[in-house]
Amino acid sequence: MPGMCDYSGKKVAVVGCYSGIGHATAKGLLDLGAEVHGADIRPCDLPLASFTECDTRETGSIDGALKAFGSGIDAFFYCSGLPQTRPPLDVLKVNFLGLRYMIERVRPKIAKDGSVSLIASTAGNGWPQRVETVTDFITTADFDQGVAWAEPRLEELGDPYAFSKEAAIVWTLRQSADFIRSGVRLNCLSPGPTITGMTPDFDSVGPAIIDVYTQPLGRRSTPEEQAWPLIFMGSREASYLNGCNFIVDAGFTAAMTTGQIDLDALLAEAMSADA
Ligand SMILES: NC(=O)c1ccc[n+]([C@@H]2O[C@H](COP(=O)([O-])OP(=O)(O)OC[C@H]3O[C@@H](n4cnc5c(N)ncnc54)[C@H](O)[C@@H]3O)[C@@H](O)[C@H]2O)c1
Repeated sequence: MPGMCDYSGKKVAVVGCYSGIGHATAKGLLDLGAEVHGADIRPCDLPLASFTECDTRETGSIDGALKAFGSGIDAFFYCSGLPQTRPPLDVLKVNFLGLRYMIERVRPKIAKDGSVSLIASTAGNGWPQRVETVTDFITTADFDQGVAWAEPRLEELGDPYAFSKEAAIVWTLRQSADFIRSGVRLNCLSPGPTITGMTPDFDSVGPAIIDVYTQPLGRRSTPEEQAWPLIFMGSREASYLNGCNFIVDAGFTAAMTTGQIDLDALLAEAMSADA
């Protein structure tokens, strides 16, 4: 029996491989013997089979990367993302509209029994509270219609990061049945606070507030601690895993949903610490 997550000879693509979780994912896949094709708005320092500069806010740029990847992809990973400090429409484009555009178009290029894995976030945990609004957004016909839907609603949607992550989760859950019928698995990873390129942006609300979301463990994740579950999710060993929102937060969501954490008290304490 080959070792777990044997990617030797597998063709994979990682979008968002310049830094953070995407970089750790590309590195992990290289270590496992994969032929790794990468794309990002910034260059990647890893010895990839190919790298294409790609801005996932632009459909034309996404088309270019897809062309460079070619077909017969065994596992596709979408790891690009923007934090809440960036222009709201850019956040919605990179974290959802570009993601959806790219995954819809990469789908016919995925090999039989292949996989698509994307990164959402525990910041999207609130999706059940406004699933109808999220569904309106994710069922827009295409990238431009998605922009047209979102643009006049930016204020009422609030934090664009949380909304984009809710969209990524609900879209994964809804699309996964159709994907697996055509032989492709679709899953998302929802990390808790992770030390990456976007850490300073998240910390701008106050580092002690972000640290609240590291309970009950009390420390942030490394990029590798997110990359390995993501790599597993995309592997042949996960062949029955589909439509899964894989929450990798050291138990924060579990503790919250079972009443083990007094979030309001912890946040009040954190706010006075950050003040
Ligand atoms: N860091 C955290 O605490 C955390 C928590 C939950 C979820 N996430 C998610 O993990 C994913 C990876 O982010 P990260 O934490 O590794 O941060 P990161 O900033 O290190 O990585 C983000 C990557 O996206 C790329 N990118 C940004 N704009 C782009 C664009 N227009 N086109 C193409 N690529 C673009 C960046 O160059 C970078 O390589 C994101 O979806 C993020 O929202 C992060």
